[in-house]
Amino acid sequence: MTGLSPRTAVVTGATGGMGKMIAAALIDAGARVVTIARDPARADALRAHVGPDNQHRLDIIPGDLSRRDDLRTAAQVIEDRYEQIHILVNNAGAHFPDRRTSADGVEMHIALDYLAAYGLMTRLGAPLRRGRARVVNVASDTLNDTRQLKLAGKPRPATLDLTGVDDLAALNPPDGFVPFEAYARAKLMTVTAGYALARSFTPDGVTVNAVHPGIVATDIIDDLVPALLRPFGTLIRRTMLTPTDGAATALRIATDPALEGVTGQYFNQGLAATTPPISHDVAMQERLLALSESHFAT
Ligand SMILES: NC(=O)c1ccc[n+]([C@@H]2O[C@H](COP(=O)([O-])OP(=O)(O)OC[C@H]3O[C@@H](n4cnc5c(N)ncnc54)[C@H](OP(=O)(O)O)[C@@H]3O)[C@@H](O)[C@H]2O)c1
Repeated sequence: MTGLSPRTAVVTGATGGMGKMIAAALIDAGARVVTIARDPARADALRAHVGPDNQHRLDIIPGDLSRRDDLRTAAQVIEDRYEQIHILVNNAGAHFPDRRTSADGVEMHIALDYLAAYGLMTRLGAPLRRGRARVVNVASDTLNDTRQLKLAGKPRPATLDLTGVDDLAALNPPDGFVPFEAYARAKLMTVTAGYALARSFTPDGVTVNAVHPGIVATDIIDDLVPALLRPFGTLIRRTMLTPTDGAATALRIATDPALEGVTGQYFNQGLAATTPPISHDVAMQERLLALSESHFAT
């Protein structure tokens, strides 16, 4: 991959796992990469990874993406600094082993795995349009099957029901909370909102796609592997993709000239794939956008 100078890419979650590989590959190809990092030590490690010769191509803005105020502030800083954004990779994400809430009172999977992506797609709308950007949302195929162990039986897709929901803080409630399902629901929300935003961005040449990167040996895996299998953690990691291989899908969707104009798709690694019917329900998409917008308008 070459020839990305002088393009600007916003990549979240660039201080770890796949995001670090995505950021480094884009920088190597000549792009300027902007990221938002919550931990100064992890930000320094990213600077060291990128190397002294490429420092001028890396812009790290402090912030915690699960916090509405941090996201709004970071988006404003980015818009003030960059007239155009050409690539946005919403890669930051986490799986939480128990129910936690963000500083804004929103369940953490919803706050980080969904709202951070929604917030950047919408708060950065003007520079994304000026750059005719490619937006890539790193989702997870858990949205198609929420079973943690898939030994037998049928896939169990993530569910989303916004009937009677007035506030995103009501989603993934304490009653019946299952972490893996909560994670998958947030990823389903990202894909669902992405389909609607893909349509609204089309006249401006902005594309929005989502990807499942494969099962990749990164820090998130420590939380995702069922407790029963954790003693075999090192062995299990060896059967997974490396972070570099995992980064390849998002990088391809963000840069491959053959995918020019492709939008509103979900890719499971290299291949276009389907998502649960509810994600294509236009009334559901509109409801989700309205709720999300009211979260950021508060
Ligand atoms: N690994 C897999 O098998 C797999 C499979 C499907 C989908 N995914 C998705 O792929 C994406 C990347 O995950 P990964 O596997 O590379 O995980 P990772 O190694 O744990 O990296 C996650 C990144 O997100 C950042 N992050 C987490 N919480 C944040 C917050 N509140 N504010 C700002 N940044 C935050 C982390 O920053 P810190 O350095 O501060 O922790 C880190 O840079 C995620 O969206 C994940 O859901 C992963």
